[in-house]
Amino acid sequence: MNTILGVPAMEEYIRMCNDGVRQGWHERNGGNLTYRMTKEDVEECAPYLKPESERGDWVPIGVKAENLTGEHFISTGSGKFLSNVSLEPQNSICIVEINAEGDAYRIVWGLEKGGRPTSEFPTHFMSHSVRKRVTEGSNRVIYHAHTPSLIALTFVLPLTAKAFTKALWTSATECPVVFPGGVGVVPWMVPGGTEIAVATCKLMEKYDAVVWTHHGLFVSGATFDNAFGLMHTIEKAADIHIRALSCGQGIRQTITDDDLRAIGKAFGVTLNKEFLD
Ligand code: 13P
Ligand code: ZN
Repeated sequence: MNTILGVPAMEEYIRMCNDGVRQGWHERNGGNLTYRMTKEDVEECAPYLKPESERGDWVPIGVKAENLTGEHFISTGSGKFLSNVSLEPQNSICIVEINAEGDAYRIVWGLEKGGRPTSEFPTHFMSHSVRKRVTEGSNRVIYHAHTPSLIALTFVLPLTAKAFTKALWTSATECPVVFPGGVGVVPWMVPGGTEIAVATCKLMEKYDAVVWTHHGLFVSGATFDNAFGLMHTIEKAADIHIRALSCGQGIRQTITDDDLRAIGKAFGVTLNKEFLD
């Protein structure tokens, strides 16, 4: 390891961007990924970070999170293509540090040709804050992707957590095991601001996956694999649901609530009872 790109966290981050691109979830600059670095990650990256004298001004995030003061995040750059992350990481992603008040960032590595973290940084930041608290520090990854089948469902299903959770849980047998808490739904909103950040992070109190109506999905995970796997599982279930509906005869038979309870019991997971009749 003789560059920052050899740091394991950077390697995994870059690989995950590629995995999302391979799925077709990241047209143009669509989607974004942030990772809350561990102390060890920051130590491994330290030799490659800008010296204090070269760090720019603090940039207000527009939201505040006291439990994220002093944290470091890897973030995709706003307007940058995830397909370019592995080709030109230094111009596509950055590492930011958070100030002592928990309301501003500055870039300490990357985006060498200029730029700023993703326009969805307020949502990522507030979601990290909530998930760090509710998972007692275990969740470190927040991922947003433009998942086509799930987006399509936001045009035909009622925009409720129950309708989406049931449609997804019953579309593939292992879904309830992967997201036993279900998914939340944010109504259509202008992306990139504090309003959608507040709406999303409220739902992140309860859910590790939040649908953005007519836009995509936000997920949270402890590891890159878990976050990616959650995104992948939900999108695949949405795709199956659409294929079944597309046969044109409606849903003739499906997984029942008792079946769902049986899956929960067999796999030792507690399904969110709000969604079971
Ligand atoms: P950014 O390029 O700013 O990350 O925006 C992409 C996106 O998906 C907005 O929701
Ligand atoms: Zn988006």
